Amino acid sequence: MALPSYPSTNRNRTYIVEVLKVYLPKTGTVLETASGTGEHISFFCSQFPGIMWQPSDMSEDLFWAIRERLVAQNNVEPPVLIDLTKKNFRDLKSYVGLVNINMIHIAPWQACVGLFRLAEKYIKGDGFVYMYGPFRINGLHTSESNKNFDLSLKQKNPEWGVRDLEAVVTVAESFGFRCLCVHQMPANNKSVVFKKI
Ligand SMILES: C[S@@+](CC[C@H](N)C(=O)[O-])C[C@H]1O[C@@H](n2cnc3c(N)ncnc32)[C@H](O)[C@@H]1O
Repeated sequence: MALPSYPSTNRNRTYIVEVLKVYLPKTGTVLETASGTGEHISFFCSQFPGIMWQPSDMSEDLFWAIRERLVAQNNVEPPVLIDLTKKNFRDLKSYVGLVNINMIHIAPWQACVGLFRLAEKYIKGDGFVYMYGPFRINGLHTSESNKNFDLSLKQKNPEWGVRDLEAVVTVAESFGFRCLCVHQMPANNKSVVFKKI
């Protein structure tokens, strides 16, 4: 069976790696939440061979694709189930950082809160949270295409939608993370990096 693929991943993954290079330590285990098809994490494994990568998602449906993509990599753990809307997570270790790409707008707000709840508990030391996706700034969309995307998301599910960056920062702070940097990315997306205080 052909491996499932999001066309956007090929377009954004090298830009994401450039940002991660700045913030990733040389070693340690990084947790990816909402790994989806595993396309990002398989690229990260090859780009950051000193890091051990832990894929995860709320659903096991695409774990076969993650496994298949990562079969030749030796710096990756088997995927684990993490639903960020839940309060308890089993079998998790501690991580030097957490990467979350294109999720918080395609999930209930509770998943964003859950992401930082998890990070507070499992990210050690001065570890980081890296988030990628579209955001509103000061209550406004940053492009017409993001505005239309937001509308289409809300039509699919009223609990989804492009999030206000300020609201995400407030949640992060309530769990002990400060917003270190916001990078403008192609296609009106942003990379947002949080550090544990
Ligand atoms: C648009 S896909 C992005 C996948 C991948 N990160 C990428 O950029 O290609 C959104 C992903 O978020 C996951 N997701 C949605 N709600 C979630 C939740 N509550 N906890 C964990 N993952 C969730 C979905 O299962 C899906 O894999």
